[in-house]
Amino acid sequence: MRASPFLLKTKRRPMTMRDRLAVLGAAAAAATLALGAAAADELNGKQLYLTRTCVACHGKGGAKAIQSYPNLAGLDADYLYREMKDIAEGKRVSGPDARGYPRTQAMKDVMNVATDDELKAIAAWLAAQAPPPVVVGDAARIARGAEAYSNSACGGCHGDGGAKPLETMPVVAGQKKDYVLLQIKEIRSGVRANGQAGMMKDVIEHLSDDDAEAIAEYLSSTVRAAGK
Ligand code: HEC
Ligand code: HEC
Repeated sequence: MRASPFLLKTKRRPMTMRDRLAVLGAAAAAATLALGAAAADELNGKQLYLTRTCVACHGKGGAKAIQSYPNLAGLDADYLYREMKDIAEGKRVSGPDARGYPRTQAMKDVMNVATDDELKAIAAWLAAQAPPPVVVGDAARIARGAEAYSNSACGGCHGDGGAKPLETMPVVAGQKKDYVLLQIKEIRSGVRANGQAGMMKDVIEHLSDDDAEAIAEYLSSTVRAAGK
């Protein structure tokens, strides 16, 4: 609304206490909004992770001890987000758990609790978390696995020790042995065929179960760089 000429001519009314409070209140509200926006990335991701069921299965900080569940902490944010979406939309399916349901099923069933933006915030937060300490297993099997990893050219896509993948591909360093073995077998058999998995399927078609197991032992012992 424009000020009328009449108002412009009149002497300005002195500020009452109520006016001052209103001004202070507006300033405080603006400051709170600015603070909220600045901290949104960090706080929201963590809050959302804790309140949108993820923590129940993936544990505090994305590193629960269940061996067939992946360590999420320190994985690439884009990869994390893509996999969440693929599981939510049923594009990524796994083999059965002990009760005969796909291991991805229970997660798929709850993914409607979070919006796309919320999943992105969770992915960004998870990517920034320190990876869990590596598990050092049997030295002879690890050496055997390192050799098979190198002979199978896994490093061409996933990098040395699985820690420095090509752009868009997952870090596999410091991943749980059982989870790694399941993924190798299910990508090889075509059960998991989401995203770019087909690219890997062609390369590992002739990998023996024994080599796959040794590689899984090896990858569970390699160090994941924080924040990749
Ligand atoms: C009921 C248990 C359960 C819940 C709840 C759950 N997940 Fe999962 N999630 C799993 C399992 C099991 C897998 C591995 C599936 C497989 O073996 O292929 C998985 C896989 C993933 C992956 C793929 C990791 C990779 O390395 O490819 C991401 C990312 C993920 N979950 C994020 C989340 C987020 C974020 C939430 C919360 C919105 C969530 N999950 C809720 C059980 C769960
Ligand atoms: C041509 C590139 C390529 C090669 C070679 C390759 N991979 Fe992969 N791998 C991928 C891609 C891409 C994905 C992710 C697929 C997706 O979800 O989009 C993947 C996924 C994985 C996963 C699952 C990661 C997770 O968090 O769920 C594991 C484990 C893995 N690869 C191990 C291996 C091993 C071991 C070898 C060697 C025997 C290998 N890969 C060779 C491209 C490759």
